[in-house]
Amino acid sequence: MGLNIDTVPESVAIILDGNGRYAKKNNITRYMGHKAGCDNLETILEETVRLNIKYLTVYAFSTENWKRSEEEINGLFKLFDLYLNRIRKKAIENEVSVKFIGDIEKFKKNIYESCIQLEEETKKFDKCIFSIAFNYGGRDEIVRAINRIIKDGNSTSIDENTFSKMLDTKDIKDPDLLIRTSGELRLSNFLIWQSAYTELYFTDVLWPEFTIDEYHKAIDDYNKRSRRFGGR
Ligand code: FPP
Repeated sequence: MGLNIDTVPESVAIILDGNGRYAKKNNITRYMGHKAGCDNLETILEETVRLNIKYLTVYAFSTENWKRSEEEINGLFKLFDLYLNRIRKKAIENEVSVKFIGDIEKFKKNIYESCIQLEEETKKFDKCIFSIAFNYGGRDEIVRAINRIIKDGNSTSIDENTFSKMLDTKDIKDPDLLIRTSGELRLSNFLIWQSAYTELYFTDVLWPEFTIDEYHKAIDDYNKRSRRFGGR
């Protein structure tokens, strides 16, 4: 295919979309579609580390996702429980620091505690910072940051840098490249402040079918654009 991965972006964000359509296409349950999506996330995380990409941020559960059926939400949380353990092993093996962005305090105690424990256990690693957006919405994040500023009561005015440090993403470099799978051409409230200058890459490929080759294609496309426009 002549992939040309001479350089890589430092910070990549991905909207993992299309598990449901993958399930339909393959005549399996939505639960199994999400499971295939979780398996693929492990593959792409490993490839991210191999490529020396420093930041990977993924949209796993949005504030909007609570509107899905109770059955689907329960299935998703069963998978999160299972895969957070698997990600823990992968993170330790690969020296990856795992972080959560979003309002995770709203989760059930067991999931919330697994998230905090995973962050604690992996915070010493710095090969790659893997951030999982969980109960995340960009507007919600901005409003929570503003409320924090009001509560502190110390500022009469604020600049962009100081505001960025109040966001959940304070430790994450703004994405250089944002990928959305599955054909939708929108951000759906993901990293709306942070993606002001981000290169966007949309593909029709469904998330569970987004292979390492597809990942390379996205990076190759990003590289061509940064060469053409000389970056920002
Ligand atoms: C969107 O597909 C995907 C989700 C709502 C869940 C994505 C989460 C994962 C793949 C796993 C994350 C796992 C961990 C442990 C962080 P969709 O159901 O909207 O697909 P559709 O648009 O085709 O119906």
